[in-house]
Order: sequence, then C-alpha cells, then structure tokens
Amino acid sequence: MVAVKGKMVMVGRQDGALFATEALCRHMRWPLAWGGKVKDGCVRCPLHQTTHKIEDGSLQEWAPFPLFPPFGKVVGKLSRQKDLTIYPVRENDGMIQVEF
Ligand code: FES
Repeated sequence: MVAVKGKMVMVGRQDGALFATEALCRHMRWPLAWGGKVKDGCVRCPLHQTTHKIEDGSLQEWAPFPLFPPFGKVVGKLSRQKDLTIYPVRENDGMIQVEF
C-alpha cells in the first residue's frame, strides 16, 4: 500500500502481472493490503470477505462474513455495494507507474 498523489493505492502482482487498486475496501474502508487475499483473479478483504475482481474491479461478493445470521446481513448493510477502482499500472525502467 502506497500513497500516490494523495490517493492510497494497493499495488501487487498476480501471476507475474502488476495490478493497482484503490487501497481501502469499499465496504468499511479496511486497508486491503493488511491481510487481503489475492486468489483466482480476485482480491478479498480480510474483515468481512468482500471480494472484487482485479481485472475490472467488479463486485463478486459483498460482506458475507460473519456467516452466522443475523450478523452477516447487518454488517453487509452498513454501506452500499460498490465496485473497486482499478488503476492502469506498468513497470518502466525499474519504476512502477500508476495512472489516475
Ligand atoms: S471492511 Fe472489507 S469487507 Fe468489510
């Protein structure tokens, strides 16, 4: 997680390819770099398991955790469902460049 021009960005690699997303979970703003899992082309927040596709930021699953009802449903309704912002990123001369 890094600050770029006042924005918090999470930069990572998946299967050797760089990706850059907004750094904070769309559900309750948890920093995704703090325990988030990247798997199967998605990033999953460690708090309530909200999952977005890295390719386009589309929402895959919204706050399904905790699974024990009714808490999961209540936690999910604390904010509106949103996609994750994805930024174009490239490596150039040993530097990682993120475009806003
Ligand atoms: S803060 Fe990320 S899923 Fe709730």
